[in-house]
Amino acid sequence: MTSTKFTEVYQKIEELVKNKPDDLLFRICELLKQDVYHYDWVGFYVLDPGNNELVLGPFVGKPTPHTHIAMGKGICGQVAESGQTMMVQDVTQVENYISCGLDVQSEIVVPVLKDGRFVAELDIDSHSPAPFTKADSEFLSKVCNLLTDCF
Ligand code: SME
Repeated sequence: MTSTKFTEVYQKIEELVKNKPDDLLFRICELLKQDVYHYDWVGFYVLDPGNNELVLGPFVGKPTPHTHIAMGKGICGQVAESGQTMMVQDVTQVENYISCGLDVQSEIVVPVLKDGRFVAELDIDSHSPAPFTKADSEFLSKVCNLLTDCF
């Protein structure tokens, strides 16, 4: 996808954030899935510091049994520990991976940091092989930066 298209989607997200609907995070998931062809499952996992685990928040796509993920487990748990984006172009090549279905081929997980500390993450699964580029990670990091106050 071109960076011009990402800029358009980003502007729509900025508009949504300004309008502050009650279901803002869900609306962002919907928009991302709808507007970006290779985004097939889009959701947020939120850190529960009391239990030191991730809890599934708003999402769009097939329901997942993975509503709670321990720190360090799977791609999501690794991003929660490192606070760094992970882009996996072929999930079959990753050992520490939690499968959400055979149709998923690739995944990107981007952290939401608040005052430098991990608070949540945006998780995107794709049914396309190796669809992600630097443009995806830059775009999604900008989106996550807009959302620090939601967590
Ligand atoms: N695949 C993730 C688990 C969450 S699902 O993609 C919704 C992982 O390995 O952490």
